[in-house]
Amino acid sequence: RKAITLTTLNNMRQNGEKIAMLTCYDASFASMMDRCGVDILLIGDSLGMVCQGHESTLPVSNADVAYHTACVHRGNDKSFLIADMPFGTYPTPEQAFTNAVQLIQAGAQMVKVEGGAWIAPIIQFLTERAIPVCAHLGLTPQSVHQLGGYKVQGKTTEAADILKADALKLQAAGAALLVLEAIPAPLAEEVTGMLHIPTIGIGAGPKCSGQVLVMHDLLGVFPGRKARFVKNFMEGHSNIDDAIKAYVAAVKDQSFPAPEHCF
Ligand code: KIV
Ligand code: NA
Repeated sequence: RKAITLTTLNNMRQNGEKIAMLTCYDASFASMMDRCGVDILLIGDSLGMVCQGHESTLPVSNADVAYHTACVHRGNDKSFLIADMPFGTYPTPEQAFTNAVQLIQAGAQMVKVEGGAWIAPIIQFLTERAIPVCAHLGLTPQSVHQLGGYKVQGKTTEAADILKADALKLQAAGAALLVLEAIPAPLAEEVTGMLHIPTIGIGAGPKCSGQVLVMHDLLGVFPGRKARFVKNFMEGHSNIDDAIKAYVAAVKDQSFPAPEHCF
């Protein structure tokens, strides 16, 4: 296959081909996911939980994400690479730019930031300086203390209206992709319909432009409590290649997420 670019992802959205994204933290898995046809590898700050053993993503540093991004970049050939900007690394546009440059120089093709309307100036600043940005709305784990735990977001009409307005503002600021985490499936469908950029869902129903899972959840190796939207693709498969291929196929044919994975 050809290398995936932002153009590829936009074409997929327009043609209705679902985008398959997985988190990835090292070269060996990057190489395997690339060969299995995963469109996007996300070096998520979830690495703080699944690799470092922290209780949340908050302790992760920019250097940590840059290190894992460099590892993934060495193993990857064709997949598109997105790196998470960790908690506290984008308080101002200037600081966001300095930190994002490190992730791009480590091999990321896009950076991801969590947050609503307040982050629009940061997205605009990065985008104007040639750094593509993925936004992230809904359950934003870096806000766990403010949200009062890991809970489904956008359930009231008021909260849904704010989320929709935020999505439009972030797109207008230049966001090229939007992750929607743990929101009602009808809301994610509505947001996806409103925007001209691809949406990637996790616990956001089947109508997003694509799906993302944490690789440890897909492989059933994360010991924590399993979220509703998680599916262990090792069930029914005897090797990791087949589980990853099954995930890609299930995203493409829209059999994942099923109703039991949705809110
Ligand atoms: O850090 C991460 O793994 C993420 C995804 C779950 C979207 O942000
Ligand atoms: Na993240």
